[in-house]
Amino acid sequence: MGKFQVMDHPLIQHKLTMIRDKNCGTKEFREVVNEIATLMAFEVSRDMPLEDVDVQTPEGIAHAKQISGKKVAIVPILRAGIGMVDGILNLIPAAKVGHIGMYRDEDTFEPPHEYFVKLPSDIEQRQVFVVDPMLATGGSAIMAIDALKKRGASNIKFVCLVAAPEGVAALQEAHPDVDIYTAALDEGLNDQGYIIPGLGDAGDRLFGTK
Ligand code: PRP
Ligand code: URA
Repeated sequence: MGKFQVMDHPLIQHKLTMIRDKNCGTKEFREVVNEIATLMAFEVSRDMPLEDVDVQTPEGIAHAKQISGKKVAIVPILRAGIGMVDGILNLIPAAKVGHIGMYRDEDTFEPPHEYFVKLPSDIEQRQVFVVDPMLATGGSAIMAIDALKKRGASNIKFVCLVAAPEGVAALQEAHPDVDIYTAALDEGLNDQGYIIPGLGDAGDRLFGTK
């Protein structure tokens, strides 16, 4: 079973509280989502492989380390995942960015529909960070990771801000090889599949569409 980690660093908890507040406006919501994503990227990238390198300092040779091996792809689930991309690029600026479009029909509870997939051509060689602020029923994350695996990706981590226990269980069952990182594990889901207490509709709050 992959790792499940709640990243409860004080800075992350504080910033998450800011965006849970229903009075947090679009500008602040967008900025703080990216700040949390940057803080999470620090931990999510902890096991990136290093290699030895000698570097000439002004005073001599340092036997130092640099990141080696797998390159990174950040794959936001549209729309709301886009809100986390710049925050991760702050730390990993050379990462490529793929996109997977999923939307849920909130009335029917049918599995989410895939409407767009565009990935780096060497996705199978990359460490993939799938990002989406919300892991609710898990349907979107499961289908996005299905779409990635179908195209050859195998080294996948899922990064969200708020998760429901139902979504974590579903994602772990469907993709036991995928590590899950979240800033909070909330109580559960309401009848519409929204996370309680959550932070509402992440896409609408990011883009100001409601
Ligand atoms: C939201 C959210 C996740 C999904 C989570 O997206 O950003 O992608 O719901 O729910 P699930 O775990 O039950 O699948 P939504 O479908 O509302 O689309 P949007 O990002 O375009 O707003
Ligand atoms: N999608 C959201 O944006 N929020 C939720 O609470 C659940 C799914």
